[in-house]
Amino acid sequence: MKILIVGSGGREHALAWKIAQSPLVKKIFAAPGNPGIAALAECRPVPAHHLEGIRDLALAERVDLAVIGPDDCLAAGAVDLLQAAGVRAFGPTQAAARIESSKSFAKELMAEERIPTARSAAFSDFQRACDYVDSHPLPSVVKASGLALGKGAVICHSREHARQALRSMMVDKLFGQAGETVVVEEFLEGREVSIHALCDGSQAALFPPAQDHKAVSDGDQGPNTGGMGCCCPVPWVTQDMLAEIKRRIVEPVLRALARRGAPFKGCLYPGLMLTRDGFKVLEFNARFGDPETQAYMPLLESDLVEALLACAEGTLGRTGVKWGRGAAACVIAASEGYPGAYRKGLEIAGLDEAGRVPGVSVFQAGTAVDQGKLVTSGGRVLGVTGCAESLEGALESAYRAMGLITFQGMHYRRDIGRRDQRMAGDHG
Ligand code: AMP
Ligand code: GLY
Repeated sequence: MKILIVGSGGREHALAWKIAQSPLVKKIFAAPGNPGIAALAECRPVPAHHLEGIRDLALAERVDLAVIGPDDCLAAGAVDLLQAAGVRAFGPTQAAARIESSKSFAKELMAEERIPTARSAAFSDFQRACDYVDSHPLPSVVKASGLALGKGAVICHSREHARQALRSMMVDKLFGQAGETVVVEEFLEGREVSIHALCDGSQAALFPPAQDHKAVSDGDQGPNTGGMGCCCPVPWVTQDMLAEIKRRIVEPVLRALARRGAPFKGCLYPGLMLTRDGFKVLEFNARFGDPETQAYMPLLESDLVEALLACAEGTLGRTGVKWGRGAAACVIAASEGYPGAYRKGLEIAGLDEAGRVPGVSVFQAGTAVDQGKLVTSGGRVLGVTGCAESLEGALESAYRAMGLITFQGMHYRRDIGRRDQRMAGDHG
């Protein structure tokens, strides 16, 4: 089989790494890919958002399956375009991806299906949004309804701050169209967990729970990033909780989207908060998470290609998905200044040595090759994943490998997996 992977991040490198292990696969293409992916796939310089270019590449190379990584490609209808051209694709259609690309749609659907989530209201009028904030308790959470690179949620502790956030999104159009509609919601307190479910339109197979670390600095300090590290599984999420999440959150979404004529095939990734009143949905994503996927892939026992095909074909119930028993920890190395402005083109050393640490895989994200040297080219530069019997062991390997990697200004969190390991029921 020939597989095309669309995207260029650590998530896509981890997917390519796992796909390359499938005996079903003869050749992998990536568009555009990155230097890490280039060791496993033939990279073509087609930008991920150039949907016609992606379709033409898939047709020219007669690929058997296209796997779409980024949210904006799915929201723009990559899967619809590929399917219309007769190319099998993994990922939701544009209509199904609205569960991520429109928070106001997701909120409406959750209200109709009685899926637990924060109380909220959606606005496209600035003054009305301000009035709502003024008449509700603080803190309040202001969210751009559309896609905003993970920066579209602002927790506001004063009415003035909320008004500022609303103004920047609705009046100054900080996120363009994505902020024309905003969702204002109640602040939830608790512990966050990422759930991923492969879905074939009606059935779902849940991954083990994972925990992202969004803040840039240790102790969850500093601004939010795309994600600075991830652990899997999460000890305080029990099997009973997972079963409840499937029954009360994942399956109702699948039924609701199917009823609306938009069955969800792909990876459904709800971000949840365990509150005193149980799990509540913070958001739905319609794709694999990053860095979550960098922790997941080394733990996955099943053939990923078989599972992705089953999602596209609607046969997941027969295929199933098997997971290894150990734990994985991924630590992200970022450029100095990230998530703000940062320099590019700084030489990276030590990757080979890091990759030789037992149980470790190094995934590349913001890297490039310049005059034969590997250099930085993005904010999140690479992810180092350690796998072991225990989370402690996984963290130990990941940090040992990270210690061998250097580039100027490199920074990473030293406390991945160190917080929030209390067990279920202990709300502390
Ligand atoms: P979102 O883009 O909606 O996932 O929000 C990004 C981050 O903001 C989440 O991972 C949470 O840490 C935080 N967040 C979002 N919504 C809420 C909420 N209602 N209450 C508390 N924190 C929230
Ligand atoms: N882990 C954050 C994201 O993929 O959106």
